[in-house]
Amino acid sequence: MKKLMSANWKMYKTLGQATDTARELAAALGELPADREVLVFPPFTAIAGVAGAFAGRAGFSVGGQDLYPAAEGAFTGEIAPAMLLDLGCTWALTGHSERRHVLGEANEFVGAKTAFALDAGLNVCLCIGETIEERRAGRLEEVLTGHLAAGLADVAKDIGPERLAVAYEPVWAIGTGEVAGPADILAAHAYVRAELEKLLPSHGAEIRILYGGSVKPENTGEIISLDNVGGVLVGGASLQASSFSRIVTA
Ligand code: 13P
Repeated sequence: MKKLMSANWKMYKTLGQATDTARELAAALGELPADREVLVFPPFTAIAGVAGAFAGRAGFSVGGQDLYPAAEGAFTGEIAPAMLLDLGCTWALTGHSERRHVLGEANEFVGAKTAFALDAGLNVCLCIGETIEERRAGRLEEVLTGHLAAGLADVAKDIGPERLAVAYEPVWAIGTGEVAGPADILAAHAYVRAELEKLLPSHGAEIRILYGGSVKPENTGEIISLDNVGGVLVGGASLQASSFSRIVTA
């Protein structure tokens, strides 16, 4: 499967800024390398602009950074999958560490969102990863198992491999400049792969596992070549088209 080169713009960029960056990115990249796909998660307010900038470009997709697991209803401030689809999204993120640790989302809620979004027709990138305290306490595998088991609890066991991705983002490497080393990435991704093969026996071997956490143009080539790395999820270094386009083609 193609490497999924994804950008999480978090709470950055107005509609105009996001649209400009998406246009610059599409122009800088031209035709994508045959083994690469681009996926951008803008803030909700900029989704339509980014989708418009990518319209008609093969291999460019847009996703929502979050969703609420209901078709519609009295959920002030929340976004339904149908609203994301309506704006041109084909993907959604669930379980990003900032939602788990800043907004207090529990594993089970992340699981409800993941299953609901898939059922609604969105592809999902489920984010998982340990804090530095959990890693130091020797709890890496326990945390990853907990995030995966609850995150995928209600997902169809034979879900197509193109419909789901898992992003391993060690919390201590997000926005810190401290990238996980190759040995850490290899070990964590091998563990995630084994868990996916257990939880989703039909396609767990194929589902892409992305790495996220201080990915930069300079370190992408090495990271992307590691076993079981099917792409990247980039925060800070994805905000400029010049930087993210180098990551996409690294
Ligand atoms: P940084 O690339 O800024 O470390 O952020 C990673 C991330 O959280 C992507 O979802």
